[in-house]
Amino acid sequence: MRIGQKLIHLESVDSTNNYAANLVKQGRLTSGTVILADEQVSGRGQRGTEWHAEPGKNLTFSLFVDEVNLSVNNQFILSQIIAVGIHDFLEKQGLNASIKWPNDVYINDKKIAGILIENQLSSSRPMRSIVGIGLNVNQCEFVDFNATSIQLETGVFHPLLDTLYSLADALEHSFHAVFSENFDINSRYMQLLYQYQQSCRYSDEKGEFMGEIVGISSIGKLQVLKSEEGIQEYSFKEIVFL
Ligand code: BTN
Repeated sequence: MRIGQKLIHLESVDSTNNYAANLVKQGRLTSGTVILADEQVSGRGQRGTEWHAEPGKNLTFSLFVDEVNLSVNNQFILSQIIAVGIHDFLEKQGLNASIKWPNDVYINDKKIAGILIENQLSSSRPMRSIVGIGLNVNQCEFVDFNATSIQLETGVFHPLLDTLYSLADALEHSFHAVFSENFDINSRYMQLLYQYQQSCRYSDEKGEFMGEIVGISSIGKLQVLKSEEGIQEYSFKEIVFL
């Protein structure tokens, strides 16, 4: 899959994920196509949140992933491929990022990138996915958000299209490593995992507690050691990092 060889560049759109989903419905997107927007007026985040990014200063785009052998059972691999790819791209900029489960990218306790993967499942064909990525590039002020950007971290302005193409290279490399070189993405993901094996504060349906992330299950659930109850497994909406 060549990522970004086909690029649809929009000035303004509600959400690049919505735009991509419409094109997929019409059968008009090929795998690897990137939909990039200078501005999203209704950018979407995980858990039904909004994604805010100052227009013209950040990367907000969606990547269409088709013809990759993924199913409902191994869909977490896609999250891992994308998160590790973003990490590797940031490493090339001299930045040391970690991955907050399931797929946020952090630098020193501040969020630099978010990922929203929306899968299209059908019994008659392999899974297709729209991978939405928001990467903070040149934005230097974040009101009410614990966030950072490449410029804030490096002190240097980064041209957006160059940044997009370097990121696309890193993502392509991450896909290739997994599907052509049998790269152990799971071990790599665990090495980069935020708060892994540290005692930290979380909350679940029973309230707040101190726990320690001890692993990830094969379907991507977070395994947390909760002192009295032993190891608990959480899906995305069931645990909050405090
Ligand atoms: C999150 O961390 O909550 C996920 C954020 C994902 C934001 C990106 S920006 C491009 C794409 N289009 C959207 O509406 N959302 C994703």
